[in-house]
Amino acid sequence: MSEQNKFSKDFLWGAATSSHQVEGGTHNNWSEWEQSPERIADLKKRGLHPSAFISGRACDHYHRFREDFDIAQSLGHNAHRFSIEWSRIEPQEGKFDEKEIEHYREVIKALKERGMEPFVTLWHWTLPLWMRDAGGWENTASGFYFARYCEKMANEFKNEVKFWLIINEPQYWVWHAYVAGVFPPQKKNIISTARVYRNLIHGHKEAYIRLKAIDPHAQIGIVESTGWLAPFIFQPFQSLRNFLFPMCVRGYFDFFGLNYYRKNTLMGRKEKNISEIGWEIYPEGLYRLLTAAHRKFKKPIFVTENGIADAKDEKRAAFIRDHVMGMKKAMDEGADVRGYFYWSLLDNFEWDSGFGPRFGLVEVDYTTLERKIRPSARAYQELMQTRSA
Ligand code: FCB
Repeated sequence: MSEQNKFSKDFLWGAATSSHQVEGGTHNNWSEWEQSPERIADLKKRGLHPSAFISGRACDHYHRFREDFDIAQSLGHNAHRFSIEWSRIEPQEGKFDEKEIEHYREVIKALKERGMEPFVTLWHWTLPLWMRDAGGWENTASGFYFARYCEKMANEFKNEVKFWLIINEPQYWVWHAYVAGVFPPQKKNIISTARVYRNLIHGHKEAYIRLKAIDPHAQIGIVESTGWLAPFIFQPFQSLRNFLFPMCVRGYFDFFGLNYYRKNTLMGRKEKNISEIGWEIYPEGLYRLLTAAHRKFKKPIFVTENGIADAKDEKRAAFIRDHVMGMKKAMDEGADVRGYFYWSLLDNFEWDSGFGPRFGLVEVDYTTLERKIRPSARAYQELMQTRSA
């Protein structure tokens, strides 16, 4: 790496998590779905152990966040992305739980005390039960409900939080919940899909307006899942796959949060360079998508998720290095990338895939809850240190 390949001192390096995946003890639409008789019967039918698919106490990060942030600090991170669990903050419609607000105040304080910039996601896929019962994002008032909760958070934390992310991967989520039918509510319905998409757009815009009104200096981002489509004949669909939601909310975000994991090879070709959950490793895709996002939106970009499931930690260090190099190449060509968050700090509950996939820089023993730093976490630390100008 030559001198000009270095990153500036204020480049942000860290890792990301989300509430339901690490906290434990959440009570929301997912926790209920995980334990529903239909879900359990379905897992058993597939010969799977239901207990591995119930989030339960997860990593108990809700109680151990200070220790976990000590680890992140010891690994050289200067930023951290996490999500606020809406179901904790507003367990009943319109009634905010002050104790839980204090909890997240402590989380933010703990990050800042350790020199890490908080990146706060307001919605990472889990709904309060009252919201689920009201039809979730299908309800025409859902955008209003969501924006009201966001406004409350901005009022509470405006002095502590500069970077907000409104909705995690809206399009990816809609696809899995309403088209493919793998996330709750497991619908496969085109009318519901359109309704939910429209309400997410409304919720995003309304939240943006309210957050900006409370703090005009806040940096408010969109986060979308991106993937590089292959083979070549799918090029015309690249924008639809990756940038449709951001295009629908153009003018209502200050930065682009880009999540990237894989090449999506369609038409069933078998690829060799894959992770243990079959995701194709393709660092060039990050370069291409960052370049495309830059051209399209001309906004600062943060890589808000990038990671690999790799229990043996054989491929993770190279995965991070190669993707960081891809990112740097995009930056050298003009993309205004300001930070990189590895997914994830800890092994965690990977949604409908349960506890199987191991994405963590830190290994978690789910019996003892012991944390063990993986060698790749050190390699990541070294990379961020040697690359800093
Ligand atoms: C992303 C999600 C994140 C995690 C990773 C592996 O799509 O945002 O919560 O599940 O995939």
